[in-house]
Amino acid sequence: MRPLILAANWKMHLGPAGAAAFLREFLAGYHPASNREVWFFVPSVSVAAAAAALRDATAVRVGVQNVYWEPKGAFTGETSVPMAVEAGASAALVGHSERRHVFGETDAETGLKVRALLAADVIPVLCVGETLAERERDQTLSVVRRQLAVLDGLDRAALARLVIAYEPVWAIGTGRNATPADAAQVHAAIRTHLGTLGAAGDHVPILYGGSVKPGNAAELIGESEIDGLLVGGASLDPASWLAIVGARSD
Ligand code: 13P
Repeated sequence: MRPLILAANWKMHLGPAGAAAFLREFLAGYHPASNREVWFFVPSVSVAAAAAALRDATAVRVGVQNVYWEPKGAFTGETSVPMAVEAGASAALVGHSERRHVFGETDAETGLKVRALLAADVIPVLCVGETLAERERDQTLSVVRRQLAVLDGLDRAALARLVIAYEPVWAIGTGRNATPADAAQVHAAIRTHLGTLGAAGDHVPILYGGSVKPGNAAELIGESEIDGLLVGGASLDPASWLAIVGARSD
């Protein structure tokens, strides 16, 4: 059974002191549940503080929001995978829509990052999703399949260590979430595509992201195709994040 993954993406919020304070408040109200994991994608400068704060916590994981694929060198401003691991990260977002659309990251770069992470045994969370214009042109599935093509050539063992996040760009930070049924339809197409890459596709958790709130988390995770949530704005307040982490679909 795929675990349910509730993942916070703090984006460019919460430095080390803010992260530690947030996590103290979170842990005071957190009740670990079976087959449910809580992941935190924090700014790279806050990874060590977050990992220290969560050291004794159950079913939690700290990740970074971006990495560079080279292990070291003259790459001013970048964070390598080994550095992120040393700081306490065991997962990383790759190809988040803000990386693609604000920073111009390409599918080719995304593919290099996925491979660098897998080589270091760090879980890549590959983010895919269409823009509003692409959705209106009925291109959702072709865009998502193109973004997933970076996985071509990976072996079954590598595929089994991946997580995918479907985040329609038009739903991010807009207050407009995909309906659970719409998201589930894209998730099913993603899973079919993963199946064409190898049998391990069945084990890959597929998260939904985009305007997730305490008020819609339960119905989203109620869809059997949705294996978890990737949450931006609503993960920045401990009370609302705890409500999402504890959401029950039944
Ligand atoms: P919001 O939850 O703020 O819409 O952001 C979603 C997101 O981009 C998570 O990675």
